[in-house]
Amino acid sequence: MIPQAAPPLRIARFRNEIDAAVARVLSGSSYILGEAVDAFETAFAAAAGAKFCIGVASGTDALALALRALEIGPGDEVLLPSMTFAGTAQAILHCGASPIFVEVDPVTRCIDPAATEFAIGPRTAAIVPVHLFGHPADMPALMALAAKHRLAVVEDCAQSHGATLDGKALGSFGHAAAYSFYPTKNLGGVGDGGAVVTADPGLATRLRSLRHYGFAPGERVSGQVGFNSRLDEIQAAILLALLPHLGEGNLARRASAARYRTLLADTDVGLPPEGEGSVYHQFAVTVSDREGLRHRLEAAGIGTAVHYAPGLHRHPAFTEGARTPLPVTDALADSLLSLPIQPEVTTGYEERVAAAIRECLRCAA
Ligand SMILES: Cc1ncc(COP(=O)(O)O)c(C=O)c1O
Repeated sequence: MIPQAAPPLRIARFRNEIDAAVARVLSGSSYILGEAVDAFETAFAAAAGAKFCIGVASGTDALALALRALEIGPGDEVLLPSMTFAGTAQAILHCGASPIFVEVDPVTRCIDPAATEFAIGPRTAAIVPVHLFGHPADMPALMALAAKHRLAVVEDCAQSHGATLDGKALGSFGHAAAYSFYPTKNLGGVGDGGAVVTADPGLATRLRSLRHYGFAPGERVSGQVGFNSRLDEIQAAILLALLPHLGEGNLARRASAARYRTLLADTDVGLPPEGEGSVYHQFAVTVSDREGLRHRLEAAGIGTAVHYAPGLHRHPAFTEGARTPLPVTDALADSLLSLPIQPEVTTGYEERVAAAIRECLRCAA
């Protein structure tokens, strides 16, 4: 079996470093917001091209707290793509604002700047671009829009750890960026975790307070409504051990994507966008008979996944945010198929996957 994603392989590969990191926490004396969280925040801020990093409990919380810290709340509308994971929209609702769905670009599969401008109305307060599958959204165009209309921008970097656009780190374009360390992510822990990065010291201070009951630094008095949303000390220790390996993992993902491109050229499979700074969180192709191909690949021992169907504008919890038809999103939701991508495996699984796809397409023809 070739699984679609294989976090256990990463854990097994770096097991000694992980065991040592966990042991250090267990032999220490602080279990919440201790040395490991501090050290990880410093290291991750540097890796993400940011001044400040605030570790929180999940990627969803990272988005919600970043929006709150930017004073987005009830009465505000936040623009986001519908082609993303549900957590992006949940976070907007958690801070009391309304998610409004915008069409994606058919090539990048990320929020379309022209459609974004069209969707801006009197209540629009923020944009949450998602760097879907590790490919950059058009940040220069979106930041220009945000400046023109005085909107906050929180980049959803849950799938883009280590990615760049024109040599600049994704996550350093917006006012803040949110990361998830869910186990399957390019930098994934052994449980839930997330972080906000920002260059703004005031925002960083508000975020540190929001994640910790609304306390001011060094005090135990709630100055505002806050949460218990802290990155766990053990997860931080594990992530700190894995962070130095993020770059090599991303290189392996790029190499894998390049192999798939060559192997699937001249087929009917639609290939993902190319981008120098993409980190291929997923290698998601488009195919016409997705369910048929999925079943045939499964029978051949090849795992695949669907990200994401249906688009969020069709989820019962979010339908109020569906203002316009989203035909590109709907077409992608019907045809995207994520192939196995495993930076830990270097033994040419792409050849087996591509051969099986070619065989399936031949049989179906
Ligand atoms: C694009 C995107 N946004 C937000 C999230 C939410 O992150 P988490 O699962 O850590 O809450 C995820 C991950 O699952 C994601 O892929």
